[in-house]
Amino acid sequence: MQDNAGKCCDGSWDEGVDRIYLFVFFAIINKSLDLMNSGLKNLHAYPFERLRKLLEGTTVNSDKSAISLAIGEPKHPTPEFILNALKSNLGDVAMYPTTYGSTEIREAIAKWLCQRFNLPQTSVNSEKNVLPVNGTREALFAITQTLIDKSSETPIVVLPNPFYQIYEGAALLAGAEPYYLNCTEDNNFIPDLSSVPRDIWQRCQLIYLCSPGNPTGAVIDSNSVKELMALAEKHDFVIASDECYSEIYHDEIHPPIGLLEYANQLGNSEFKHCLVFHSLSKRSNIPGLRSGFVAGDSTLIERFLKYRTYHGSAMPLHTQKASIAAWGDEAHVKYNRAQYREKFILVCGILKPVLEVTPPVASFYLWPELPCSDSDFARNLYTSENVKILPGSYLSRYIGGINPGRNRVRIALVAEVQECTEAANRIKQFLQNSF
Ligand SMILES: Cc1ncc(COP(=O)(O)O)c(C=O)c1O
Repeated sequence: MQDNAGKCCDGSWDEGVDRIYLFVFFAIINKSLDLMNSGLKNLHAYPFERLRKLLEGTTVNSDKSAISLAIGEPKHPTPEFILNALKSNLGDVAMYPTTYGSTEIREAIAKWLCQRFNLPQTSVNSEKNVLPVNGTREALFAITQTLIDKSSETPIVVLPNPFYQIYEGAALLAGAEPYYLNCTEDNNFIPDLSSVPRDIWQRCQLIYLCSPGNPTGAVIDSNSVKELMALAEKHDFVIASDECYSEIYHDEIHPPIGLLEYANQLGNSEFKHCLVFHSLSKRSNIPGLRSGFVAGDSTLIERFLKYRTYHGSAMPLHTQKASIAAWGDEAHVKYNRAQYREKFILVCGILKPVLEVTPPVASFYLWPELPCSDSDFARNLYTSENVKILPGSYLSRYIGGINPGRNRVRIALVAEVQECTEAANRIKQFLQNSF
């Protein structure tokens, strides 16, 4: 007689029941392994994970100091006044922040947007057109989860190629099909909209722009924006413009024009179909603060706010206060640009005799073409010179017979001037010795 399930009176396990338990146990494990968003299976390894694998096990020349120009993480010091604003408001951790953000942060963002992009104050309503986000990365991802309607024929998300990989992952995890637009030297690194078939536009629900571009540094022109806005109106899709490099530019007189500025110039002062994403990470050398904003079409902002309320991504109050300080000051950003300008001039001067390099219009990247494979170059440069850079093909896909990142590398001039010039001298030496 059994006194409880599975156990015989003498306390030993009944074999038959034992097997049933095992079966049920493994069935549950298997089921739980199956239970995942199917888009996860399609995600590609992240570029820095691929770089880590590429360099793993190689013997590096440790006579030379390590220099990393691989990650786009600014290394200029964070301005003191931003850190002070953060420190003096740490007590705010005692309160829950709201997803909507404080009136002060929304007003600071609206003011900055109007000043920077020549927008009339009447068109940027701080209550309806802006929303603080915890860095553009999460917002660029979340907007696609918010807006993609899976109930229609397979939705399409259009994105540049090469790209910031979050765009692709966001599309896949939202159940959309990514459609890549090659950005090559032939099209001045600007997506060629006319190459997209009509049925793709019909299924398109969102397009990512990256202007200034990572890794190319290219800035979208007015004709392309005009064409895109007409397409968005006709086919009812959203333009998500990632402008997180908009403040790192070469020409002080002609800063890059953003999507909302173009929209306003074209008479779309309500920014219909348009959203822009801005960040303090690059502008203010504070990537760890996780602070940015999304702005534009009030209907889209309202939907995004609803999604974010459930997602739980409210910006902490002390982060909001530090961000207000950062958006309110341009002197530190100007100084930042001066440093990047100096680095581009010096580094390009060193590399010019061995590699075709030109400073980009904006961003802090060089994107030169190489005389060899990009991954071989990155690995051999690392082993010989202890300098890390990112192979271009890790940022792009093979589309329409070409991979726009093939035989290119991304060199992020993020380190201080002396380290950047030292790296450039080592790259020069390496190229002279190798080719
Ligand atoms: C093109 C692009 N967009 C967005 C981001 C994310 O920036 P953050 O989340 O720090 O605002 C990055 C970071 O490198 C980037 O290169």
